[in-house]
Amino acid sequence: MIIAIDGPAGSGKTTVSRLLAKQLGISYLDTGALYRVLTLKALEENINLNDGETLQKLASTMNVKIEGERIYLDDREVTVEIRTPLIDKNISQVASHPQVREVMVNLQRKITYCKDYVVEGRDITTVVFPHADYKFYLDADFNERLQRRYKELKEKGLSVSWEHLEEQLRKRDEADFTRKVAPLKKTEDAIYIDTTNLTLSEVVNKLLSYIKKKTIFR
Ligand code: DC
Repeated sequence: MIIAIDGPAGSGKTTVSRLLAKQLGISYLDTGALYRVLTLKALEENINLNDGETLQKLASTMNVKIEGERIYLDDREVTVEIRTPLIDKNISQVASHPQVREVMVNLQRKITYCKDYVVEGRDITTVVFPHADYKFYLDADFNERLQRRYKELKEKGLSVSWEHLEEQLRKRDEADFTRKVAPLKKTEDAIYIDTTNLTLSEVVNKLLSYIKKKTIFR
């Protein structure tokens, strides 16, 4: 069973997906983390981020390990490092290359093959798993998403200015929605959930109620 969840940055996807998977007793895959690890590796190796072919090679050979909420690159834990503003700033460029996306899509299908997973990202309901058992699109107002992202970074002890973060979120939204390959969009069959005024558990319960309803009528 695949539960596919898409939505913009700060829509609550990651936390919601993690909790939902826990409640259902199944696994969870944050596909953004894979793009983040690749961006970190490319920056560390001084790779030109316009060079799709070299990035593709890097993506197909990188050694990523996911253990619960912890992410490892070449056996080094990079859980916090991949969520810094430096990665946010550069990730859209890395994720824009079709060659990179091809490797990532295959990797995501390989990780989840024949298993029960909640998978979240930007192109999960459209490209990676268009025939997923359940499809959701999570959204929230821009200001709410900005606030969430600001809080998340502060809690991690990372210093960021509100204005800088606002500019970065706008740029990332623009890149996510207008990318030539696999842009973020809601499919007709995905259930739209506006999380702006909902608590985390309210969102999870909403998703669970749709899942239970569909299971009963199958
Ligand atoms: O979910 P996130 O904010 O960690 O994702 C970071 C970036 O990675 C996002 O702005 C675009 C890219 N991404 C993508 O292109 N496709 C995905 N399935 C997941 C993330």
